Amino acid sequence: MAGQEHEQWASRVGFLLAAIGSAAGLGNIWRFSYVAGENGGAPFLIIYALCILFIGLPIVIAEISIGRNARGDAVLAFRHARPDRAWYLTGGMAVIGCFFILGFYGVIAGWSLKYFVSALSGHLWITDNYSTYFSGYIAQPIEPVIWQAIMMALTVIVVAGGIQKGIEAANRFLMPVLGLILVFLAGYSLTLDGASQGLAFLFAPDWSAFTRPSVYIAAIGQAFFSLGIGMAIFLTYGGYLARGHSIPRAAAIIVAGDTLLALCAGLAIFPAVFSFGLNPAEGPELAFITLPGLFQLMPAGKWLAILFFGLLVGAALTSMFSILEVPVAYFIRRTGLSRRTVTVALGIIIFSVGVPASLGYSVLKSASIGSRNILEFYDYAISNFLLPLGGIATALFTGWGWGKAKALEESDFHDSTIGKIWLFCLRFIGPIFIALAFFSVSFF
Ligand code: PFF
Repeated sequence: MAGQEHEQWASRVGFLLAAIGSAAGLGNIWRFSYVAGENGGAPFLIIYALCILFIGLPIVIAEISIGRNARGDAVLAFRHARPDRAWYLTGGMAVIGCFFILGFYGVIAGWSLKYFVSALSGHLWITDNYSTYFSGYIAQPIEPVIWQAIMMALTVIVVAGGIQKGIEAANRFLMPVLGLILVFLAGYSLTLDGASQGLAFLFAPDWSAFTRPSVYIAAIGQAFFSLGIGMAIFLTYGGYLARGHSIPRAAAIIVAGDTLLALCAGLAIFPAVFSFGLNPAEGPELAFITLPGLFQLMPAGKWLAILFFGLLVGAALTSMFSILEVPVAYFIRRTGLSRRTVTVALGIIIFSVGVPASLGYSVLKSASIGSRNILEFYDYAISNFLLPLGGIATALFTGWGWGKAKALEESDFHDSTIGKIWLFCLRFIGPIFIALAFFSVSFF
């Protein structure tokens, strides 16, 4: 067996921090805030919570169980579980999918780093029109690609360091810092005048929104993106997990951590947005146009901007490690090359896959797909097709393909009632709801 089989997390806490770090990323801050804003806040939040509980959590448990059972990468794990069937294609799709996810993710991570450094140097305050600032910045062909390359290089350095010395060590440092920053920002935002309007937006349900299919689709897509399920990420991290720790408990902590961090981000952003009379439904630009404008208006805004964009960079990085680890684990086994060589090579290839998404705002501006530019197309295809497809395959495999007894045993549920509920969610609830969302996206 190849080298990666011998790697293991140094501790359970290390695994949990890395897994929460993986789940909590740009999806919790950048994407959650604008998707919640566009979908009316509270109703979206309720459906989102249900999706997390009945679809997301069961799939996280399934992924970790499949990975731990095989102690191997995405493809090996499915092959190990069912050598006689083609389920390994699910793993193959995940390995390929991660090239596109990380490619596109790296572009937005690069924007975040640029804003962080500009907040630190003061360059961010040379304007009071962030709409032109942002569109002017992304319309340059070279600079955004350089920041994207720096984020990819940082990811490569950490992942090349291995599971314990690279990924686990980085998460042990970054995650507590990120948690503290987020709690501080949420606390600060809640003390502002007018914060209650932001709270009402997030928590006061408007029942009519429950009749809008688009809110359900947005909630499922966001649950998938935010947890990062369907792409064998938890499966790969689970491959380094020792037996003896309860998987359902670990998964519950990871999912609760991810949801809590998204909520905290909402609490940091919406009260402040409302208290300064800004529009919460700005779309993907919320973090890069609305928020800098907001920081400029706030008394201690320059410091808050450093914290916020630092948070965005750190959260992006801890997710980038895990997305890169999926193909890295696979190719180390397949090629027999060293972790360092494989990581550097994949880093360069994935960076190249992301470059067109960045150039879609400048030299490749005319290359739109439908009404979307290249980056928007990546985001759309990943959230609405790739992740749900991977999620459905993982749920169906665990619910139907793996064998009931094996699935219950490997997930540590054994004979419990809750284990049966878990399987029911994987067999029916997840696939049916994902398929419904899937088709409504395709047809409407
Ligand atoms: N879950 C992480 C986030 O919310 O940013 C990272 C992520 C993984 C995003 C996989 C998207 C994805 F497809």
